[in-house]
Amino acid sequence: MVICSCNVISDSDIRAAAEELVNRSPDTKLSALNLLAEMGCQPDCCGCVPQFKRIARETLIK
Ligand code: FES
Repeated sequence: MVICSCNVISDSDIRAAAEELVNRSPDTKLSALNLLAEMGCQPDCCGCVPQFKRIARETLIK
C-alpha cells in the first residue's frame, strides 16, 4: 500500500528502510525525515509523517 504519494513509497519500503537503519545504526532515531533520507527522498506535503511514525514504532516493537 502506498503511504507517501509524493515519493511513491509503500509501507513495505518504509519497513525495509527502518529495519536497515536499526540494524546499521541502532541508536538512530527512526523519524520520517531519517527514513525518507534512507530511501533517497525528501518530504514534500508531509501528509505521510503520521504513517511513517506508526510504521517506525511497529518496526521497533518487533
Ligand atoms: S505524502 Fe509523503 S511527502 Fe507528501
